[in-house]
Amino acid sequence: MTDIKEQKEFNLLEEKKNIVITNNLKHSIVKELDKLLDGKLKELTTEPFTTIHTLGKLVAKKVCVVNFEALNDLKKRKKIYKNITELKGDNCIIVDSFENDSYLEIMQDLSEKILTDNYVFNKFKSKKEEKNKDFYYYGETAIYDVVKKGFIYGDCMNHARDLVNTPYNYLNAADLANYAKELERYENIKVTIYNKSEIEDMNMGAYLGVNKGSTDEPKLILVKYQGKETFEDPTALVGKGVMYDTGGYSLKTPQGMPGMKVDMAGSAAVLGSIEAIARLKLKANVMAIVAATDNRIGDGAIVPDDILTAASGKTIEIISTDAEGRLTLADAVWFAQKEGAKKVIDTATLTGAMVAALGHEFTGAFTNDNDFLKELMDASVKTKEKVWEMPISSGYRKLIKSKVADIKNTGGRLAGASTAAAFIEEFIEKDTKWIHLDIAGTASLEKLGATGVMVKTFTELFY
Ligand code: BES
Ligand code: MN
Ligand code: ZN
Repeated sequence: MTDIKEQKEFNLLEEKKNIVITNNLKHSIVKELDKLLDGKLKELTTEPFTTIHTLGKLVAKKVCVVNFEALNDLKKRKKIYKNITELKGDNCIIVDSFENDSYLEIMQDLSEKILTDNYVFNKFKSKKEEKNKDFYYYGETAIYDVVKKGFIYGDCMNHARDLVNTPYNYLNAADLANYAKELERYENIKVTIYNKSEIEDMNMGAYLGVNKGSTDEPKLILVKYQGKETFEDPTALVGKGVMYDTGGYSLKTPQGMPGMKVDMAGSAAVLGSIEAIARLKLKANVMAIVAATDNRIGDGAIVPDDILTAASGKTIEIISTDAEGRLTLADAVWFAQKEGAKKVIDTATLTGAMVAALGHEFTGAFTNDNDFLKELMDASVKTKEKVWEMPISSGYRKLIKSKVADIKNTGGRLAGASTAAAFIEEFIEKDTKWIHLDIAGTASLEKLGATGVMVKTFTELFY
């Protein structure tokens, strides 16, 4: 486990850790260091990253110098991060004083990347290559604040990635509920878990329909974070929590099924972000909501042609049991509004059509309120998580009308991401501001595994 810690005092002659300095020769310690190293630091102006072996002049074996100008260049920055994260043993990063605030953003970024670049999912490897190094920061208070923000972003993204990377046989709905319950270790967080009979009492027929083929009980998870005096006007973050998606009787193919442990990435994003929001003590009221279940075949599982009644009272004709995410979300967003949310953001690995449209580059965004979406887009620009707006309109809404029920759960071959969004919109009340994010393409990448997408943007939204 990589950790980032504040270092309050610094003794140049006794420091055992590698010393990494972001160099502009302003700080008295850096000047002193330069003297001890015979003025070498002054000469190092061209290379983005240089390592100097101290050869007994200091207890620390290595002094690494990061070129300030290079940190401004995105390509060079990546190389510098790589150099820093590959350092063996413990490291102390001395942040020299800055001339302007753009470096604060860079230090936040560096701190986040130290955690996310060092991430490995090796829980299930019998031979673990433990990286086990710590990073210490020494610098001005303003710097430490952004370092802490970056650290919390990185840590919470990694938690979301762990959840997504963990397979279904180690993480079912009950396991996720237990994980969520533990978020109560943070101040101002309260977690309520509803079991099957309580979900039945709320008439969540759409959500329960998905669970009918499973041997594992569903768990409806409600996490509340109160960052204001009173719990007024909370925003709800609703995450799709399909712990595994086999497709149900509309079974996925042997090629299409592997990887479907990713189908709870929406829930990982909302749990990761509410953790970050609480740890950063943001002044906001936020709820994270997950209607967790798996989607499997079994005795009593729903079949196509079945008609389910959602908690809102709307009836749904099942065309495909593989369009299950929207069924769970129908009742989850309804529940969010019953809990008092006038702003709802749902995030889900909802459609293959979204992946076909935008690939792994952009998360697709749908909304009924352009100002609300603008807020989210602004946050996503700051966090560099790419989001692109997608349309819902009357034509797509027509495609999900059913002959035998109020609506049906698929809209045919075309525009699958938009018809799925139109389906969820059916459960959004008139005065609710709503954004739907389809992260099917961005939640997990072939090379990297789970990404922890949206943890940062959701948190940034409440800054
Ligand atoms: N979980 C899938 C969507 C998905 C696809 C997530 C690829 C991650 C990567 C979803 O439940 C699903 O099966 N959607 C169907 C909907 C269809 C039956 C209308 C799809 O996209 O094929
Ligand atoms: Mn599915
Ligand atoms: Zn699914």
